[in-house]
Amino acid sequence: MPPEIARMSNKKEIEKRRTFGIVSHPDAGKTTLTEKLLLFGGAIQVAGAVKSNKIKRGATSDFMEIERQRGISVATSVMAFEYRDRKINILDTPGHQDFAEDTYRTLTAVDSVIVVIDVAKGVETQTEKLVKVCRMRKTPIIVFINKLDREGKEAFDLLDEVEQKLGINVTPLSWPIGMGQRFKGVYNLYEKKLNLFAPHGKQSKEDIIEFTDLTDSRLDELVGEKLAEELREEVNMITEVYPELDREAYLNSEISPVFFGSAVNNFGVKELLDCFVEIAPSPLPRVTEEREVLPSEDQFSGFVFKIHANIDPRHRDRIAFLRVCSGTFKRNTNYLHVRQAKKMKFSNPTSFMAARKEVVEEAFPGDIIGLYDSGNFKIGDSVTGGEVLNFKGIPSFSPEQFRFVNNADPLKSKQLAKGLTQLMDEGVAQLFTKTENNRKIIGTVGALQFEVIQYRLKHEYGASCSYEPVALHKACWIETDNEEQLRAMQKRRSRDMAKDKDGQLVFLAESSWALKMAQENYPDVKFHFKSEF
Ligand code: G4P
Repeated sequence: MPPEIARMSNKKEIEKRRTFGIVSHPDAGKTTLTEKLLLFGGAIQVAGAVKSNKIKRGATSDFMEIERQRGISVATSVMAFEYRDRKINILDTPGHQDFAEDTYRTLTAVDSVIVVIDVAKGVETQTEKLVKVCRMRKTPIIVFINKLDREGKEAFDLLDEVEQKLGINVTPLSWPIGMGQRFKGVYNLYEKKLNLFAPHGKQSKEDIIEFTDLTDSRLDELVGEKLAEELREEVNMITEVYPELDREAYLNSEISPVFFGSAVNNFGVKELLDCFVEIAPSPLPRVTEEREVLPSEDQFSGFVFKIHANIDPRHRDRIAFLRVCSGTFKRNTNYLHVRQAKKMKFSNPTSFMAARKEVVEEAFPGDIIGLYDSGNFKIGDSVTGGEVLNFKGIPSFSPEQFRFVNNADPLKSKQLAKGLTQLMDEGVAQLFTKTENNRKIIGTVGALQFEVIQYRLKHEYGASCSYEPVALHKACWIETDNEEQLRAMQKRRSRDMAKDKDGQLVFLAESSWALKMAQENYPDVKFHFKSEF
């Protein structure tokens, strides 16, 4: 294809794409909403096709639940569908806090997010944490307030809570009329339409009524006098208090539109999706250590944000999830694996159309492809058409729980080393090696991962490990221009020094007090809570 035509077709493909993640606290309705979106896109035919990847409370064992989910989460990692001539890629984000790091990394691969909030519970902790990450990256946010068929908080109070707790400015694009038993529907402020509630997706065309003038007495007949009056007053207040939606402000992450609905009843979801495809950004530029990469560039580039090991222990291969950032990815083409400085070809790259996996010939910016991997990749790796580019924004965060890891089977030390390296490459946990005695410490976000590691080492690598407690508060990546101070610190605090898996220097702080002391004693040393600075 002549380069000019290739460029034009690439541009068209980029503009079609919307790659986003749904963020929520467990139970707010993320799975349900995902499923309804897929139904609209025709990607699935029946409700119940998307399995929840959450850890159910009271399950036999949290840990077996994780294994069950590893199977599910390959299928739900990326779900793609077409809607109104757009190609939409939904990236799954685990809500469980023990997998927060997985979610943070996935958020590096999206261009926008939808935040789901339970009308009764309001803004919950996990949502707060995840939105903070989105705000740091200036990711545009749309908010969906769910479960209006249940009693919950007053709409204005909720918006205040969203603004305060999430630190974002909002503007409602729909407004609820009653709630719970009295829930009559929503007024679509964006399109000036009254949207009458019918449970279980039974809403018909007649339930959506053009309604530009709310003083019209028909409103009283449709929703009752009391609710009609409330709606009129509230809409007046909304116009006074909240700004009109400005797409630029949304794209700059300065304002977030808010929708109200009920995912399980498939109510308010179409409005959300219609607005989303209209305003959400198409693939955005990405920053590398070398330069900014634009999606429209000719050269292919992408990065690995997630690695999924095969759940079947007989097949050691893994799937590396790569986000295409620029150019066109083509099957069976020589690309550069930047970290290993070696050429690689991919003969079976897969795309993810809902639960179907198929081999793709080509993929465009915004797309996620699965690359079969026998241990070449780790999270954050770049693949390009030849240029050395290292994508930024995929750091490791300081873990919260630490344990010494020991080899429990001296005959299997090789297997243990290999298993640990590969599990760390997958991002299951982080490994620190103490400089003093080479002892290894595993750091995780949640306690569940320790069990997962032990189990997977045994079943996938034939290795055994045991743990020993270690009292640590934080692992801090350190940097300084003051060599002398660094040497002094390494000498005095040799017990607390370690290297991470990439050989970066880390200070292991026993307590917040020890960290404070170190910061005071070595003022030229910077202590970072993430590996990228
Ligand atoms: P999550 O992925 O965010 O963790 O949440 P999920 O979609 O699994 O939803 C959590 C629970 O909330 C589910 O009920 C789901 O049916 C319910 N739900 C989702 N949307 C709505 C809504 O609009 N209104 C009401 N009333 N409930 C909603 P569950 O009992 O935990 O599971 P299930 O047995 O119904 O699957």
